[in-house]
Amino acid sequence: MNNIEITKVKYLPELRQIAELADEIWHECFVGIISNGQIDYMVEKFQSLEAMTQQIENQGYSYFAVRDNGELCGYIGVKPESDDRFFLSKLYLHKSRRGKGIASLMLAKVFDEARKIGKKRVYLTVNKHNDHAVDVYKKTGFVVADTAVTDIGCNYVMDDFIMEYKL
Ligand SMILES: CC(C)(COP(=O)(O)OP(=O)(O)OC[C@H]1O[C@@H](n2cnc3c(N)ncnc32)[C@H](O)[C@@H]1OP(=O)(O)O)[C@@H](O)C(=O)NCCC(=O)NCCS
Repeated sequence: MNNIEITKVKYLPELRQIAELADEIWHECFVGIISNGQIDYMVEKFQSLEAMTQQIENQGYSYFAVRDNGELCGYIGVKPESDDRFFLSKLYLHKSRRGKGIASLMLAKVFDEARKIGKKRVYLTVNKHNDHAVDVYKKTGFVVADTAVTDIGCNYVMDDFIMEYKL
């Protein structure tokens, strides 16, 4: 029986654990979607302890830890925009915990957090070739609103769908 807790990350040691988990998940889930070099680059740029500390302190991000029977197994990153949108920046679950209904709890938490501060829409970017994630988002009620190719430096780009969910 799963006992899932989703709590806001408040302390540095917890954020450090999330950085370690992110490193593991990204090097598993993006193989075959982007190059190993791009995975290393993106983990360092977006999910290192330093990067996430900056996001929280200077860019309005919050991170949430997902625990299954007390064990850290996933994380969520979000950011309120200045308009009526809430940005779902990160939704990551360890492979061992997928397919068990936890993703739906994570998405419900995102929607709750957005509603709590009066937002009307949740949006995200997802790699066009990340088929499972796209299916999960579509099943949840997200629709493809646009596409974006974003230059992230060092000759790497993110080739994404922008998906949106109306609260
Ligand atoms: C994306 C992620 C969090 C989803 O978690 P998951 O455990 O794999 O998701 P689930 O298999 O529980 O699917 C979630 C829901 O979508 C449904 N679903 C999954 N695949 C589906 C498909 N092909 N068609 C229709 N519905 C589908 C499931 O039935 C489930 O609904 P339910 O909870 O009502 O039963 C997880 O796969 C992950 O961390 N992947 C790697 C990281 C990643 O790609 N993150 C997204 C980056 S944008």
